[in-house]
Amino acid sequence: MSLAMNWRAAALGLLLVAGGALAADGAPAKAASGHASTRAPGHAAIASANFHATEAGLEVLAMGGNAFDAAVAVAATLSIVEPESSGIGGGFMAVLHRASDGHNVFIDARETAPAAVDAQDYLNPDGSPNRDTALKGPLSAGIPGEPAGLVLIAKRYGRLPLKQSLAPAIRIAREGFEPDERLREAIAGMQKDLQRWPASTAKYLPGGKPPAAGVIWKDPDQARTLELIASHGDQGFYHGETAQKLVAAVRAAGGNWTLADLASYRAKERTPITVDYRGYRIVTAPPPSSGGVAIAEILNILSGYDLTKMDAATRTHYVIEAMRRAFRDHNDYLGDPDFVKMPLDMLLSPFYADGLRQSILPDRATPSSMLPRAEAVEPGMHTTHFSIIDADGNMAAVTSTVNYTMGSSFVAEGTGVLLNDEMDDFALVPNKPNVYGLLGSKANAPVGGKRMLSSMSPSIVIGADRTAVIGSPGGSTIITQVLEGILHFIDGESARQIAAHKRFHHQYLPDVVNVEAGVFDAAASDALTKMGYTLKSREPWGFMNVVTWDRKTNQLDAASDPRRPSGLGKVQ
Ligand code: GLY
Repeated sequence: MSLAMNWRAAALGLLLVAGGALAADGAPAKAASGHASTRAPGHAAIASANFHATEAGLEVLAMGGNAFDAAVAVAATLSIVEPESSGIGGGFMAVLHRASDGHNVFIDARETAPAAVDAQDYLNPDGSPNRDTALKGPLSAGIPGEPAGLVLIAKRYGRLPLKQSLAPAIRIAREGFEPDERLREAIAGMQKDLQRWPASTAKYLPGGKPPAAGVIWKDPDQARTLELIASHGDQGFYHGETAQKLVAAVRAAGGNWTLADLASYRAKERTPITVDYRGYRIVTAPPPSSGGVAIAEILNILSGYDLTKMDAATRTHYVIEAMRRAFRDHNDYLGDPDFVKMPLDMLLSPFYADGLRQSILPDRATPSSMLPRAEAVEPGMHTTHFSIIDADGNMAAVTSTVNYTMGSSFVAEGTGVLLNDEMDDFALVPNKPNVYGLLGSKANAPVGGKRMLSSMSPSIVIGADRTAVIGSPGGSTIITQVLEGILHFIDGESARQIAAHKRFHHQYLPDVVNVEAGVFDAAASDALTKMGYTLKSREPWGFMNVVTWDRKTNQLDAASDPRRPSGLGKVQ
């Protein structure tokens, strides 16, 4: 029996014999409030990765929209001004909180595999993974979910018609904007791939080069596609002119989409995962994200310790060990809930966490030596997150993506739509790492109509007096960033401090702790190294956008990650 199996058996054994979940002081964990909005803030806050998008959201609030209309405006504007990270050719996941009745819902606008998906397309003739078809061109693209998700949010939760909430994005696309440095760098970095397809070259490399600083850049094709969605809802994208153009472009370039794939796409409402920790209720993403399951598992493990009484090295040790165990389960069990039976009751159980906690030594790292080693990559400019609280206390945490930087690099001719490369988030080749170094199993194998597993972890943290809306891009690091952000918020940090906080990351394999410069002082680094951890410096990562609400003082705060100057957190 492998060490992995021994651990799992130990955890399951303890599941049967352990007592109830205890708080750090040994008392039963206090029930946290699931319904925060006893009062409305009377003003609003938005934090997003681009100032045009934050301003678009505020403009829609000023029209009489709520947080959900603003979310539609922010997402659509990011599709124009931050296409390297997200867009209507991709998908998103969102946690919404409705103030009037405390209803929490998860919106799953994740992409799906086309019906004709063929795992052979992602293999070289010698059977090794073909990284090009997985990450570039039309075979790498799932059926987009973002348009359907925005329509669903507007219809079920918004106050305004799409014509109003999409108006700022359409105006920016028609009148033009100055691409920021981050977008110009992303285009330059992906130039070779963008040059492979004429519509991508025409859109992103005008005159054969990435746009220069100061140019005004227009996106009339995407403006037209957004106008069709504004006028016809789902029909404007998944049927008719846009659908025909998308399918024609994909098939002409060697892809396998059909009109039926588009017509059958549905965004879904799901029940979010909730977990209580130190008097706060965390409302977060269920499968097909792995993020919420991992965050809940980590918090359940940590609830057996009092982190506030520990020195930095000991606290970090327990957090890393909890991350390690959660990522192991991520690799083994999770996939699309519509296709895969998952042992969620076990993974989310405090008893399961009790068992895992027993396997953590107080003073030593546990080696992750049970699975083939996977290599992580440096973080790119992929994925985006924004957070909103409106004047009534409605909240939206939205993480949106085209997957890796500039998605598939493939623009579908005549639509202005840059397609995602989300197919790489499937376990295309079992137990071979994807672009984020994540391994997968049968649970996340590609099947027509199935959603690929995500790390996106939009979350709302609800306490008796304080609430945070939080999330970040960053591939597999999303989960650990959001987890650390939740811990920092519960420790009392402000939105600004949370967004700026230095980070560390462990994902089971590779068995190293990625560290941002300055996250640990010399004494903590030394202590962690002596416990057996391999600390590996990494460039700063993430683009966290956080809003917080202190209901005692009625103060709203909004902060965008200081590592990226294009973001804007604003209270109005
Ligand atoms: N494409 C990144 C994620 O969904 O985790």
